[in-house]
Amino acid sequence: MSQVLVASNRGPVSFSLSEDGALTMRRGGGGLVSGLAGVAGAPREPSAEGPDVLWVCASLNEADRTAARRSPDGRIDLAGHETGGAAVRMLDIPEATFHRAYNAVANSTLWFVHHLLYDTPHSPHFDARARRDWQSYEAYNAAFADALARDAAPGAKAAIQDYHLSLAPRMLRERRPDLRIVHFSHTPWAPPEYYALLPDDIGTRILLGILGADHAGFLTERWASAFLDCCEMLPGARVDRAARTVTCDGHVTQVGVHGLGIDADALRRRAAEPDVVERARALREQVGDRQLIVRIDRTELSKNIVRGLAAYRELLANHPEWRGRVVHLAFAYPSRYDLPEYREYTAAVQRTARQITEEFGTPDWDPLILQVNDDYPRSLAAYGLADVLLVNPIRDGMNLVAKEGPVLSERGCALVLSREAGAAAELSEDALMVNPYDVSQTAESLHKALLMPPAQRAERCARLTAAATALPPQRWFADQLAALD
Ligand code: F6P
Repeated sequence: MSQVLVASNRGPVSFSLSEDGALTMRRGGGGLVSGLAGVAGAPREPSAEGPDVLWVCASLNEADRTAARRSPDGRIDLAGHETGGAAVRMLDIPEATFHRAYNAVANSTLWFVHHLLYDTPHSPHFDARARRDWQSYEAYNAAFADALARDAAPGAKAAIQDYHLSLAPRMLRERRPDLRIVHFSHTPWAPPEYYALLPDDIGTRILLGILGADHAGFLTERWASAFLDCCEMLPGARVDRAARTVTCDGHVTQVGVHGLGIDADALRRRAAEPDVVERARALREQVGDRQLIVRIDRTELSKNIVRGLAAYRELLANHPEWRGRVVHLAFAYPSRYDLPEYREYTAAVQRTARQITEEFGTPDWDPLILQVNDDYPRSLAAYGLADVLLVNPIRDGMNLVAKEGPVLSERGCALVLSREAGAAAELSEDALMVNPYDVSQTAESLHKALLMPPAQRAERCARLTAAATALPPQRWFADQLAALD
């Protein structure tokens, strides 16, 4: 029985299985895991005081299922691991249910709604199949609610994360009314007119699901306020905007804002390790003493990589003085490859990159280095070397790249940042802010960033670092739990 439980689709670790049956563990990816890693289980050192944390997540592959089966009582103990040492329970959700809940509902529908991604080729179509997918989403959420209900000590706190699990808070409260439940959204929240694209029953069920929690947390005021706007449309719900509460079926949910920043010491320690130092050396050798524009993303439609590349192209076309003097390092790591939209998008990124290389490349200058294989130490090395960091999402809950870059920058990087990233709320004074759809403005901002005098760049970067580290993950998580007291 645990006093504190975390629930998320992707867990702090994932496994792979070699032919001889040996399991290898690696850190899970993504912003949510970065935020929670090292936090959720931190108090679990044998000598330390604090709650025993259980992290419930989905098995993402056969190796995860094997690891769960081989562990006593299905709990994988991570004591001493870099993720902070929580115990992990990986749920064995039937593959078809997982696929429909994760790919069809969470990633193709809810993600698209909250990131305003629907456009003509990818417009929503809610038919009988969508209803079947929705039933899988319910079953997937119920599997989490069951596991949490089973493992929670009396009066325990459960921190349920993100849009994959928006029904779980209500389901858990029905099963265990003694628990205190927080739901945290790592994504933006859609404005009501966009949220209304969802079929009425589904849109309503999601709001009611989250309102089963005692506290609903968001990364910025803007997303919290959009959630309240949607709740105002919910029949039977009463929204008190001043108190930031929603009352529904006699239950009060407090809505809160908890910004998520960087643990600077942990990040710098990791960046000082030999694998990062070696990659920094290799990158430097590859690009020489040219200025570096860096971007690091999952290959994700909301990250707006194609427009970012188009802006770089426009920079080289309009300011030929940069040709031969700048290199764009674009790391676009594989993501959600089961979805056709993501496969098409990856192809578009690669096509655009090729066009730039063909148009501007010379025998002794490669204007663009696109890397599509995931390499965390190489990302950390690139942060260190960046002169300019480009973060231009169409919409983003927070965006931790915009925060990690300044912290690790050795040369005082300039940040070109989308006004639609949650991080803009904290970084806009010292970043060069752009409308993510405005390719020309982005190109001009890259130009300005490259021209910024080093002293000004360093001053801005120092202030960006201070803002990025003001709300470290430990505090973010502690605030979520404290909101339940
Ligand atoms: O809310 C964002 C998030 O859940 C983060 O964990 C991460 O940025 C991304 O989505 C991960 O997506 P996936 O688990 O589908 O790779």
